[in-house]
Amino acid sequence: MTELSKFATHNEYPNDSIEGMDLQHLLHPSTNLAQHQQQGPVVHESASGVYIRDNHGKQYLEGMAGLWCTAIGYGQEELAKVAYEQMVKLNYSQLFAGRTNEPSVLLAEKLKAMAPFDAGRVFFGLSGSDANDTQIKLIWYYNNALGRPEKKKIISRKRGYHGVTVASGSLTGLPPFHAAFDLPIPGVLHTSSPHFYSEGLPGESEAEFLQRLVDDLEGMIEQEGPETVAAFIAEPIMGAGGVVVPPENYFPRIQQVLDKYDIAFIDDEVICGFGRTGQPFGAQTLDIKPTTMSIAKALSSAYLPISAVLMPEFMYEAFADRSGELGNFAHGFTYSGHPVCAAVALRNLELMEEMDLFNHAARMGEILQQRLQQFVGHPLVGEVRGKGLIAAVELVRQAEPREPFAASDGVGAFCANACHQAGLVLRNMGDSIAICPPLIINENQIDELVSKLAGAIDQTQDWVHKQGLL
Ligand SMILES: Cc1ncc(COP(=O)(O)O)c(C=O)c1O
Repeated sequence: MTELSKFATHNEYPNDSIEGMDLQHLLHPSTNLAQHQQQGPVVHESASGVYIRDNHGKQYLEGMAGLWCTAIGYGQEELAKVAYEQMVKLNYSQLFAGRTNEPSVLLAEKLKAMAPFDAGRVFFGLSGSDANDTQIKLIWYYNNALGRPEKKKIISRKRGYHGVTVASGSLTGLPPFHAAFDLPIPGVLHTSSPHFYSEGLPGESEAEFLQRLVDDLEGMIEQEGPETVAAFIAEPIMGAGGVVVPPENYFPRIQQVLDKYDIAFIDDEVICGFGRTGQPFGAQTLDIKPTTMSIAKALSSAYLPISAVLMPEFMYEAFADRSGELGNFAHGFTYSGHPVCAAVALRNLELMEEMDLFNHAARMGEILQQRLQQFVGHPLVGEVRGKGLIAAVELVRQAEPREPFAASDGVGAFCANACHQAGLVLRNMGDSIAICPPLIINENQIDELVSKLAGAIDQTQDWVHKQGLL
């Protein structure tokens, strides 16, 4: 018996069921593999609006927009029609060697018009990870073009999430994404995370904490040598790191330091972009002045994979100036500018405008944040945080001073599972329960979400007591 079949014997799924076949054939991303072999999968079968159904007909309110991505909601038939029509007309073309296609050009034009900074050019990819990989290569290429080949290091942050490929996984500042993968690669550094509740020192005020973050960053730059540091990358609000909202004025203060040392700001809007934080882009909510920007997820509301890097014209000019010497700009993917993905993304953005979705999301965001305040003071809740339609409720042994549960207690996982039982999809990052519903959610659905979460938190509290964890 192989190790795998030893695990597989613990569940009761027939080998020819979808669950049983899943257990024989798939390697699941971001999944505890041994646990999965024992518990088996949840099979999603259909979805519409903000609801998703499993293969037993059970319906769940999708409180996480899939993986923070199904912004416009499920089952938009018009996007399916656009994909069909584009496939029939031109199912594939490329952007290599000067080829182009109408949907990619129109989408690039649209993105430049929407961008909250002076974006000159758009480079297309397929995922947030490849967008951030591209960001690193662009900044390296740019600094080589400017004749400063030593200016290459990238500063990211602890708890940041920027993807999983070799380079973007290095930017990610979460230990499980490095351990046993031999990451991070050299030249990627991680400065302090801006979460006051968990990182603030005893007796430290939020203003003092912010000063410490600024000093940490400046100290790191000075120690490394400012001439070696090319860029700083950040999500406006950290997502996978536990929905971390930085202190007031954090980004302007950080940017003063970056500007002093001529360090670019890569704004990772893969989650925050397109209405998530109550404004079109997180940069506007958090007062960031991006040099470049990564977008994905809500760009197509996850109807098809697509990502983009937006960059200023001066970077493009530096690249173009090197053509004589280097020949091709030798970067790009087979599916950069895939016409079907681009057509769907473009229509998705137009639909968002027609629906006035960003303003709707801003209004619903205020309602969500206000409803979540009911958890402040709950004996199991340490902090409620968020902006717009992204939030987290952090479960703790003791709120003040913060005393977390041991990771091995699995309190957050229990709560997320209780939500699931109740027909609500939320996700725990450690003991922080993340909330990130499709932007189309309405007030009644927010009430449903919050009341199911309240039940799950109470259930978790009972369980915590029974387990003797308090
Ligand atoms: C902020 C951020 N950047 C990048 C990524 C990576 O995107 P992908 O999973 O599409 O590679 C994610 C994914 O969750 C993300 O949240």
